[in-house]
Amino acid sequence: MIPVELDGRPVVLVRHAGEFFAVQNNCSHKDFPLSEAGFDPRDEVLVCAWHGGCFDIRTGAAVVLPAVEPVETFPVRVSADGWVEIGLTGSLAR
Ligand code: FES
Repeated sequence: MIPVELDGRPVVLVRHAGEFFAVQNNCSHKDFPLSEAGFDPRDEVLVCAWHGGCFDIRTGAAVVLPAVEPVETFPVRVSADGWVEIGLTGSLAR
């Protein structure tokens, strides 16, 4: 997991099973950076290191309490020359 910043927006980039996922890098519970979270590859969730709230890396949905609000996710693609590109249009705006 790699923390990045896009136009001032903190994002964590996750590589899993040959795919990339970009997720808001602030837990929706108490704002802890999710780039410091654990990752459960079986359930494909980020596990917040502070209180254990979990977020689906595909949808951003909060799936384990105490987190109840989703985190934003962003579209990701890999360019022909190997650059990972993250879109600024978030899942919550769709
Ligand atoms: S800050 Fe992430 S679960 Fe509380």
